[in-house]
Amino acid sequence: MKITVLLGGTSAERDVSLASGLRIARALRELGHDVTSLDPARGVIDEREERAMEHAGVMKVAPPSLSALEHMTRTSLSPSLGTLPAVRKADVVFLALHGGAGEDGTVQALLDMVGVRYTGSGHLASALAMDKDLSKILFRAAQVPTADWLLVSQASAVRPDSACVERELGWPVVVKPSKQGSTVGLSVVRAGADLASAITEAMRYDDEVMIERFVPGRELTVSVLGDRALPVGEIFPRHEIYDYECKYTPGMAREEFPAKLSANETTEIQRLALAAFRALKLDGYARIDFRMTESGEFFCLEANTLPGMTPLSLLPQAAAAMGMDFGALCERIVQLAMAHPSPAIGGRHDT
Ligand SMILES: Nc1ncnc2c1ncn2[C@@H]1O[C@H](COP(=O)(O)OP(=O)(O)O)[C@@H](O)[C@H]1O
Ligand SMILES: [Mg+2]
Repeated sequence: MKITVLLGGTSAERDVSLASGLRIARALRELGHDVTSLDPARGVIDEREERAMEHAGVMKVAPPSLSALEHMTRTSLSPSLGTLPAVRKADVVFLALHGGAGEDGTVQALLDMVGVRYTGSGHLASALAMDKDLSKILFRAAQVPTADWLLVSQASAVRPDSACVERELGWPVVVKPSKQGSTVGLSVVRAGADLASAITEAMRYDDEVMIERFVPGRELTVSVLGDRALPVGEIFPRHEIYDYECKYTPGMAREEFPAKLSANETTEIQRLALAAFRALKLDGYARIDFRMTESGEFFCLEANTLPGMTPLSLLPQAAAAMGMDFGALCERIVQLAMAHPSPAIGGRHDT
């Protein structure tokens, strides 16, 4: 099959995406597919360049600076993606972008317009999953428990003050951009004095910021592939929360698959993950993040429609825990995309 892997892009998670995409391209090529790697920020990456980038280790600990991303966004090829031969001639586009336009439904909608198949969720589901506020509203409607929260928007004249946060949520709270990933712009706030600066920091990344009740306890994640939930993973970050450094620095977090849960707890969290997946109308695959309190209650944090596919990432580890290697995982994601009715110009036919 002719497969074009989209990787890199102009989001804060650019480097993570390059690491995911290079690995996916190599795995699909090893399976005999005709693979092209395309970075919407720069263009086609040839195989020699791919190997050099993999060898150099494209991932750094800090996300790229906002000014570097702004520059890339201005010169990006993204608006003309639909006209590029690498996209138009592909049997399927494998989306290895993370964050920003690649994950929020924009690129998905663009591919719908040109009638090219792509892996994972469609544009509406992608946009919903990217928006933590709307996701949580839909989780609650589907009886998937999620922590209480308040939303602050840039436009609103009044921001909740610390008395309001204390009354509605209690300390500590987590302040985070509503539409961002990889723990960028997120902070744990323990006292009213630190609230305003945390909101200002999160506003750098989004015009809407969530203030969410802090859920103490364990960090769990459930990957969904097709219509089944994979083995549950538990994360033991070195820091209190699973922050950017813990996510992407070898040795800063330990993962355990399957997580040490009772049979009932495993069944329950997998059921909640599938319910969350359906609530947002996700498709193909996704990873759903949870916290679990000491008393055994689960709280859904969010759904990731384009979860990391780096060697350290959780979905590949979950697949491995049930005997599915990385190549087989990529192949399955492609098959799930191919199972859709043929795309017509003007939109994907979601059923
Ligand atoms: N309400 C919360 N209570 C406790 N920890 C949280 C909460 N929200 C976020 N975190 C921590 O921050 C990490 C990232 O938050 P998450 O909501 O998943 O956003 P992101 O899209 O950045 O991954 C989580 O994996 C968790 O460790
Ligand atoms: Mg997360």
